[in-house]
Amino acid sequence: MNTIKHTLAVLGLITAPAFAATPVSINIDAGKPGPVISKYVYGQFAEHLGTGVYEGMWVGTKSSIPNTRGWRNDVVGALKELHVPLVRWPGGCFADTYHWRDGIGPQDKRPSNIYGSHIEEINAVGTHEFFDLIEMIGADAYVNGNVGTGSVQEMADWVQYMTAEGGSPLARLRALNGREKPWKVAYFGIGNELWGCGGNMKPDYYANLYSNYEHFLWAPEKSRPKMIASGGSGFDTAWTQVLSKELKGRTIGITVHQYTVPTGNWEVKGKDLGFKEGEWISTLANTLKMDQLIKDHVAVLDKSDPEKKIGLMVDEWGTWYDEAGARSALFQQNSLRDALVAALNFHIFHEHAERVTLTTIAQMVNVLQAMILTDKEKMVLTPTYYTFQMYAPFQDAKSLPLAIADNTSYTLGTTTIPGVSASAARAKDGKVYLSLVNTDPHKAVDVAVNVSGTKVNGAAGKVLTSAAMDAHNTFQNPQVIKPAAFSARAAGGKLSIKVPAKAVMVVALEE
Ligand code: AHR
Repeated sequence: MNTIKHTLAVLGLITAPAFAATPVSINIDAGKPGPVISKYVYGQFAEHLGTGVYEGMWVGTKSSIPNTRGWRNDVVGALKELHVPLVRWPGGCFADTYHWRDGIGPQDKRPSNIYGSHIEEINAVGTHEFFDLIEMIGADAYVNGNVGTGSVQEMADWVQYMTAEGGSPLARLRALNGREKPWKVAYFGIGNELWGCGGNMKPDYYANLYSNYEHFLWAPEKSRPKMIASGGSGFDTAWTQVLSKELKGRTIGITVHQYTVPTGNWEVKGKDLGFKEGEWISTLANTLKMDQLIKDHVAVLDKSDPEKKIGLMVDEWGTWYDEAGARSALFQQNSLRDALVAALNFHIFHEHAERVTLTTIAQMVNVLQAMILTDKEKMVLTPTYYTFQMYAPFQDAKSLPLAIADNTSYTLGTTTIPGVSASAARAKDGKVYLSLVNTDPHKAVDVAVNVSGTKVNGAAGKVLTSAAMDAHNTFQNPQVIKPAAFSARAAGGKLSIKVPAKAVMVVALEE
């Protein structure tokens, strides 16, 4: 589509023709690698919330569900295959009421306490158990500390407990509890959502508090975690403004939280399944707002941190639906629509790789946009799981410049979004990977890929799609939707790919 036609389509004045149109044209420059897409962009979030940790991952050593030191073998196995690079724990809002000393020492001596107004925390999963999990799945740790109801001393002690070499009293206590060697804490978050559940603060007040906390979080230089400041929510850049000015040299990143709510209305968010096409397009349109949101925050960072020392860390993102008779708090089903939400977000994060250095989707198991759902001994992998798996080669890959010409658009009612979204990178295995999303739930789209800087003979990879917009896997029928093999040949140096309707695709180019 030319520019005028595209503009008219965006304005809703014309609709895409029903007959086969000019293919969408994608140009990749393989000779000009851009910034590295940090593997930490593919991070996960595991909060003590609903059945996200207890039941979903941790069943305890006495459970009849096969487990390793309390962690379910099926879930650990699936997470291992996902190449999870980073896990944020223990919250979220939970972090700001969590006292780490309750979660160490003999299991039968640990206290139960109440989180929030009524939820019991049994403290069976504490620091040692968390590190056991991430060591089993090969991930790094992003531990989130308690500013809301904790103290500087408590947080400083926790950092020492995790990172101190032998000789210090806290290292001796750790050894007494079964762990001689310090753990690697890649990132440490100082509080969460301080503007809300973390303490109803103003950004200036938190900036002072942060400096005070950060000052006392001693750790050996080589193993000191990178400190993260908890920022704002959505398009409000006030927290980014203040924190990026006040915390220079004291933080590696400022967080922002942005969820995809289908209706855009937190009172009536929309259903996880059985939604109409109106909520398909509104969900994708709302997800695409992540791009402008990042641009807004990055514009602020570019002013106060032109040296680009501070990253923008989207450490909570993903879909959030109404809890329709949910089995546990924030449990929701996960469908093909969630796969597209994940892929579109990945493309946006890749585009901003220079600043977006870390993200963690909410959440890993049984909570919000999860990778894995469990019901007693049963486990099911979601379309979001498969999307993360297909995109694994993008971890630490070098992004490649990509331009889309003659893009289609997909319109319903007054909403129009781009038909095709794409991203490309040269991965650590040396191959160029191309990812594609077709947002249109009805029409396949022809894509012509031209790659400069290399000769392409074909492409092979995986495609994730299904007949229904809400196709999902259930405990009774866990194989309804999963990736299928896909390949394409090149002719005259151009690769022709037909991307099915409502699909996510990742292919490696054959050079
Ligand atoms: O991810 C669920 C909750 O959403 C987190 O605890 C909180 O940080 C956010 O409001």
